[in-house]
Amino acid sequence: MDLPVQTEVCKAQTLGELIEILHRLFSDDKVSVAEIQTLMESYESNPEEWTRFAQFDQFRYTRNLVDKGNGKFNLMILCWGEGHGSSIHDHTDSHCFMKILQGNLKETLFEWPGKKGAGAMVKKSERVLRENQCAYINDSIGLHRVENPSHTETAVSLHLYSPPFEACHTFDQRTGHKQKVQMTFYSQFGERTPYAASISQENN
Ligand SMILES: [Fe+2]
Repeated sequence: MDLPVQTEVCKAQTLGELIEILHRLFSDDKVSVAEIQTLMESYESNPEEWTRFAQFDQFRYTRNLVDKGNGKFNLMILCWGEGHGSSIHDHTDSHCFMKILQGNLKETLFEWPGKKGAGAMVKKSERVLRENQCAYINDSIGLHRVENPSHTETAVSLHLYSPPFEACHTFDQRTGHKQKVQMTFYSQFGERTPYAASISQENN
């Protein structure tokens, strides 16, 4: 008689453990979106573990690389000052997971613009993501804009992109016109990226 296979429910107690489990899961060719989302949600944010990656800029949100996932994914921490937000953007055919580590983020979902790209973009939905929640998006779901709606509190989020990508498109909400943008890191592994290399117009 065959015994049923015990499915493993992955939970991460610390950021280090989360990264370790992510490496293990992504070493398989097939990865379950639901499993990654549940795993990322299971990690209870502890600022002591991620504060060295969380480097803020006065004027815009920052992207801070935490782990390169053995080439399978990029894990990064995004730091949102009061009122900071992204453009509307796509995800270059990658999977995108976004977990809130601190504060709240508002996610507004848009439809892809029509073929001609003319006219105002259509808003599908919006929601506020709260501490420890983990959202998921890919290009078949649509485009989104992410914003820190608070004018008194900062926000911090943990993003996983797989496969990693270095450029995406941003979209003009009024016209639907798209533009390709290169993405850079404000810091990598806790070290500030040299100034010239960190000028970024990206918006994921
Ligand atoms: Fe995004």
